[in-house]
Amino acid sequence: MTAMGGHQSHRVDTVRWLTPPHVLDALGPFDLDPCGAPGWPTATTVYLPENGQDGLALPWAGLVFLNPPYGSQAWAWLARAADHAQAGGNVIALTFARTETAGFVSEVWGKADAVRFLHGRLHFHHADGTRAAANSGAPSVLVAYGPRAVDRLATAATLPGTFLRIPRCPLPSPTSEVRDAAA
Ligand SMILES: C[S@@+](CC[C@H](N)C(=O)[O-])C[C@H]1O[C@@H](n2cnc3c(N)ncnc32)[C@H](O)[C@@H]1O
Repeated sequence: MTAMGGHQSHRVDTVRWLTPPHVLDALGPFDLDPCGAPGWPTATTVYLPENGQDGLALPWAGLVFLNPPYGSQAWAWLARAADHAQAGGNVIALTFARTETAGFVSEVWGKADAVRFLHGRLHFHHADGTRAAANSGAPSVLVAYGPRAVDRLATAATLPGTFLRIPRCPLPSPTSEVRDAAA
């Protein structure tokens, strides 16, 4: 099986990778998953493209769990997460720890409240629910937007990782090195 998270890949991943249940158990329950998968119970309300639902366009409410589509499209979802927190909501997002990329700099370092860098690598699940034999091939990070989300990340004792609050300070203008790291 191809590893899903190679740092050098700029390929848009069209394969659906599901969040491991132990991650959801450690952090949930959640009110909404705006980009869900059929038969994968991540939240009380799950928006599914199979039902004609566009989770970027529909309203978000409460504590949201977000494992967005991969590739550069992920950043639009994290931007929406930050908007939800600005409006009083909360979001925990699961994404790759590509901390150098322009999207991560803008949408995580620039807007999120805390992160939990997971130790080791996750084994995501296939669309049929089975656990992938291979690990994700790259490190994952949980990102908190909003105070309830921060509390959940801080106290997720069963998820080995390092929790860090992100100080709220203006980002410097992007250097050419950051602009180059587009994906
Ligand atoms: C990485 S999978 C995560 C699935 C599930 N949320 C989880 O955490 O296991 C991303 C999901 O986003 C869904 N998706 C992609 N674009 C979407 C959209 N515009 N609205 C709702 N869901 C979308 C895909 O069908 C896919 O199931």
